[in-house]
Amino acid sequence: MDKFVITGGTALQGEIPTNGSKNAALPALAAALLTEEPVTLHRIPTVRDIRTMQRLLVDIGCQLEVDGQTVRMHTPAITSPEAPYELVKTMRASSLVLGPLVARSGRARVSLPGGCAIGARPINLHIFGLEQLGARINQAYGYIEAEAPDGLRGATVQFDRITVTGTEDLMMAAVLAKGETVLKNAAREPEVADLADLLTKMGARIEGAGTSTITIQGVDRLRGAEHTIIPDRIEAGTFLIAGAITGGDLSVTECCPDHLGSFVSKLQQAGVEVTQTAPTTLRVRGGNMRSVDMTTEEYPGFPTDLQAQYMALMTQADGIAIIVETIFENRFMHAQELARMGANIRLDGRQAIVAGKHELTGAGVIASDLRASASLVLAALVAKGETVIDRVYHIDRGYEKIESKLAQVGARIRRVD
Ligand code: EPU
Repeated sequence: MDKFVITGGTALQGEIPTNGSKNAALPALAAALLTEEPVTLHRIPTVRDIRTMQRLLVDIGCQLEVDGQTVRMHTPAITSPEAPYELVKTMRASSLVLGPLVARSGRARVSLPGGCAIGARPINLHIFGLEQLGARINQAYGYIEAEAPDGLRGATVQFDRITVTGTEDLMMAAVLAKGETVLKNAAREPEVADLADLLTKMGARIEGAGTSTITIQGVDRLRGAEHTIIPDRIEAGTFLIAGAITGGDLSVTECCPDHLGSFVSKLQQAGVEVTQTAPTTLRVRGGNMRSVDMTTEEYPGFPTDLQAQYMALMTQADGIAIIVETIFENRFMHAQELARMGANIRLDGRQAIVAGKHELTGAGVIASDLRASASLVLAALVAKGETVIDRVYHIDRGYEKIESKLAQVGARIRRVD
C-alpha cells in the first residue's frame, strides 16, 4: 500500500492547476448511457473513482476509449443493466447508473451501497423519486431492482432533504420520461448544473438546474454530444488551503472562482488574503490567521467536502473555531489523526472545537477517507519534521497526482510503496 512521506515547513510558491471536477465527471459519464450515439467528454480527471465508473459502464455495454483527459463513449445497446456489489462497495456514486438504466432500458439492478466511513448515506431518495416516476422497485438479496417496461412518466418529486447524486439520478431518469417532471428541493450544486448542460446538448429539455426547482420536459430520445467538465472546486479549495496553511504565495489556476464563494469568504474572514487575479485564477497569500467558526451547508454554503481541510487550517489560526458538520453524521475521522500531530481538537457530536494555534509535529497517521486524507496532507505540509500518511489510496480516489502537483510548488512530499 502506498504511503506519503511529507516533510513540513516549506511555504508553497508558484502556480498550481485545477483538474476537471470528479463529482461532475461521474454523473456525466453515467449520462452517456442515455443515448445510442457517441458522447465525448473532455477534462475528465484521472482518478480512481473515475476508473471505477468506467469499468462499470463497460460492464453495462458501453464502448469506451480514454485518450488523456478525453473519454469517448458509445453505448449501442445496454447488455447488462446491473451495478454489482463489487463495484458499488468501492464507490457509492455507482448508484448514478440507476436512473439512466431505467430510463434507457426499462430495467436496472443495482447493489445497495451499505455503510460508509463518513455516514450512513442511504439511497432511499433515489428510490422514492424513481417510484414517483412510475418505476416498480423490488429490494432483495442486497440489490434494488427497478422496472419500468412501458417507460417512466413525468411527476413531481419533492425531496425531503437535499441530495446531490439523488437530484442527478432523477434528472437523468426524467429526461426520457413521458411528460413533465418537477424536482423540488433539488440540489443546487454546480455539478448538477453541469450535468444539465450536458443533457441539454444531448437534446434534453431542462429548466432551473442550479436552483432548487428543476423542471424537465421528457423527450423520446437523446443524441450524442461533446462536453467539457467544469473545474473541481474541491481540489481548488484544497490547494488554496495549502497556500494559506504554509504561509505561501500560491496561484490556483484553471478554477472557477464563482463556485468557491462562501469558501473564499470564510478564508478571508480568517485573515487569509485571497484575490482573483484572472478570470480562472485565485491567488492566496498566507499570514497570521484568526479562528472563524464554520458550519457546512449544501451549495452555495460551505461545502462538507472542504470541512476536513478547513479543520487542518484552523489548527494554525489564533483562537477557538467551532466547526459544525450538518451533511454527514460521521465526518470527523481526521480529527483524531490531526490530534496525533499535536492539534487541540475536541469532538462533541456534530461539532468539533479546534483551539489554535498549536504547533503540529510529524507523526505516522492513517487516511480514513478521501477528504480526511487531504486534511492530513495539509497538516503535514506545516508540521515540524516528517509525517508518514498510510492508506493514501483514499486520496487517489479524487485527487490526480496530488504529490507531484504539490511538489512542483515546493512541497517536500514523496510517495513510497
Ligand atoms: N441522503 C439520504 N437519502 C438519500 C440520499 C442522501 O438520507 O437517498 C443523505 C445522506 O446520507 C447525507 C445527505 O443526504 O447525509 C446528503 O447526501 P448527498 O446525497 O447529497 O451526497 P451524495 O450525493 O452521495 C455527493 C458527493 C459527495 C459530497 C456530497 C455532499 C458525488 C459523487 N459525491 O454525495 O462527495 O460530499 O454530495 O455535497 O457527487 C467527495 O467527493 O469526497 C464526496 C463524498
